[in-house]
Amino acid sequence: MPRLFGTPLSPSATKVMLLGSGELGKEVIIALQRLGVETIAVDRYPNAPGHQVAHRAHVIDMTDGAALSALIALEKPDLVVPEIEAIATETLFALEQSGRITCIPTARAAMLTMNREGIRRLAAEELGLPTSPYRFASSLEELEQACAAVGFPCVVKPVMSSSGKGQSKLDSAADVTTAWEYAAAGGRVDAGRVIAEGFIDFDYEITLLTVRSIGTDGAIETSFCAPIGHKQVQGDYVESWQPHPMTSAALERARDIAAKVTADLGGCGVFGVELFVKGDMVWFSEVSPRPHDTGMVTMASQVQSEFELHARAVLGLPVDVSLRAPGASAVIYGQHEAAGIAFEGVADALRVPGADLRLFGKPESFARRRMGVALATAEDVDTARQRALEAASRVKPVVR
Ligand SMILES: Nc1ncnc2c1ncn2[C@@H]1O[C@H](COP(=O)(O)OP(=O)(O)O)[C@@H](O)[C@H]1O
Ligand SMILES: [Mg+2]
Repeated sequence: MPRLFGTPLSPSATKVMLLGSGELGKEVIIALQRLGVETIAVDRYPNAPGHQVAHRAHVIDMTDGAALSALIALEKPDLVVPEIEAIATETLFALEQSGRITCIPTARAAMLTMNREGIRRLAAEELGLPTSPYRFASSLEELEQACAAVGFPCVVKPVMSSSGKGQSKLDSAADVTTAWEYAAAGGRVDAGRVIAEGFIDFDYEITLLTVRSIGTDGAIETSFCAPIGHKQVQGDYVESWQPHPMTSAALERARDIAAKVTADLGGCGVFGVELFVKGDMVWFSEVSPRPHDTGMVTMASQVQSEFELHARAVLGLPVDVSLRAPGASAVIYGQHEAAGIAFEGVADALRVPGADLRLFGKPESFARRRMGVALATAEDVDTARQRALEAASRVKPVVR
């Protein structure tokens, strides 16, 4: 953690390297830049959103450990901040062990959370947190047994995947073969390993943004943002809002779970703790050791967005997690498969009262690629949701 804040592009610079430079990394970079930090954006393709706002941009395969350590040796960042899961985390771990890097929040956290097996076993078996029943499987036969053990309905996911890729819900044993094949095709790395989870019939699900930062006494303190409610379609977030109402018992349990899992992962920064809630019962689902996509709503709803909180926390600075106003976010998908698309209706969208927009600037669009997000605030969450949805619907991606 830097004691002094230097001048970017000079020998005194405080340098932070982002591994992954999508829409979340872009906002972290902007927040760091405002604090006078020199930023280095890394992604696997050119002109990624974060590349467009950083001091320097690099394109490498971040799952290639040799390429990753060569780039770190070249840039010598004070902090390495993973923004995505698909990274050679064992390389980060080795570099951290040998004292050559500080990884945010810790290399171990990045390693454990990139694989569902690592984080699930830690949460359920070591920390004793409530989770859905689960089994792992490495073959179709094992998956048949795993699904029978957790019961139907259940959810099958590749152990290495995100945004719902390769994930399916199974109603009976007849669905197992299709789920296995779908998972094999959708996993990030074809590790051929999946998790089967009993389906939790929750009332709602939340992301509890949890911040570990340095307090006035120099010790790490844990703060909780107001709960973020969200709606997922095919395992991908389409809408989020803050605050989501919770009973005090459920909120207390949620915070207790979040405090335990983030304390074990360690380090400083924002964590997105995903939880399922039914009445006063709370289940741990998963955690991102970094800002969370559903947390984009905080750019409208909080005094400090999750990106500003992350930037401050990783730099050892104080944080303020207070809410500014009830808010909501609604995703804008690309709708087209094309490079260099354009957006119509931006002015109309911004005419919605309390609305704002982020267009990420991704060079290539896919039908279901997240290209932007509409944000809104209002007196209450329901109105904020309507406004965000209205603003998002007014933005029309077009091929030029
Ligand atoms: N065991 C489960 N029971 C009910 N819904 C689930 C379960 N697992 C996942 N889901 C639904 O699918 C979404 C995505 O699953 P998640 O495990 O968070 O995968 P990802 O890493 O792709 O975000 C969750 O937010 C939730 O809506
Ligand atoms: Mg998730």
